[in-house]
Amino acid sequence: MRRWLVTGGCGFIGSHFVRLLLRERPEAAVLNLDALTYAGRPENVADCAGDARYRFVRADIAEHAAVASAFAEFQPEVVVHFAAESHVDRSILNADAFLRANVLGTQVLLEAARRGVVGRFVQVSSDEVYGSIAAPGRASEEAALAPNSPYAASKAAADLLARAAMQTYGLAVVITRGSNTYGPNQYPEKLIPLAITNALAGQAIPLYGDGGQARSWLHVEDHCRGVLAAAERGTPGGIYNLGSEEETTNRALLGELLKLMGLPRELIQRVADRPGHDRRYALDSGRARRELGWQPRWSLAEGLPQTLEWYGTHADWVAAARAQDFDAYYRRQYGSASSAPTAGG
Ligand code: TYD
Repeated sequence: MRRWLVTGGCGFIGSHFVRLLLRERPEAAVLNLDALTYAGRPENVADCAGDARYRFVRADIAEHAAVASAFAEFQPEVVVHFAAESHVDRSILNADAFLRANVLGTQVLLEAARRGVVGRFVQVSSDEVYGSIAAPGRASEEAALAPNSPYAASKAAADLLARAAMQTYGLAVVITRGSNTYGPNQYPEKLIPLAITNALAGQAIPLYGDGGQARSWLHVEDHCRGVLAAAERGTPGGIYNLGSEEETTNRALLGELLKLMGLPRELIQRVADRPGHDRRYALDSGRARRELGWQPRWSLAEGLPQTLEWYGTHADWVAAARAQDFDAYYRRQYGSASSAPTAGG
């Protein structure tokens, strides 16, 4: 497969995917379609700009005309759809942008794809569509969709639209559902980069509720290799969970991070819980392991120090990412400006 259209290629996971494709698939031509909203950082793919196989088009996936013209010009054979509003807390504050990008945007792409020469459409989804999973269970791909946040509901809606496009128009859709992802280039509103950047600045790290919520952490490179495997080897109509077995509570994770940084646990500050907060996510990824030959390569023990080192050496990236609306968001979400001194405890 040669002509890959990647949406959201300036975002966190999307940018790692664009680089993986260019690095490991010499025959691939890549069109990156990204609206450059606050979390889309062109500097994430700055190193691709000189590659003759790479092109970037700034476009909003919810705009029919912009999407149609990109498809007409590039004639993609594969679409890998990462573009999404992805932060649960922002979706709780206001879900409108989530419905526009994640639901309408996905439908516009599916519509363009089924009219073109697309032989494979990868809908990059999330473990959050299954809702909270009681221990010690794991959600398989057959688990009921039970989203609990506006973000998760918008992703579940997109997955169902992707399914419908396959049933109705015969579009060869594959859905991937990844677990919590971390690594370099993640916008510093998600737990791990927020904790690292706050701690580096000597600021308190907000921990929701009792911090006993459990997440399974997947390194971004492992997530991208899973999406690539699903694009190339997944069965049309197939859903593939991409989970790690690195399950940890938020409290333990932050303790580990602070230990690595040589900072006191007192930087952790308990704050009010997230409404509707899912207690635990846990995926059964047996299908991806069996059918795609995929398994994560990174352990948290290797990935956390690597991620820490990246943020420690990319202060300019963090400052640029936060320049747009981050302080206003932070004040609204946490009740204090990110730059204001905060008490530990
Ligand atoms: P997050 O990174 O937002 O991912 P998700 O909601 O997709 O799991 O949050 C990861 C976990 O960390 C989740 O249980 C919520 C919690 N959390 C905090 O305790 N404090 C914070 O400031 C943030 C952003 C998240």
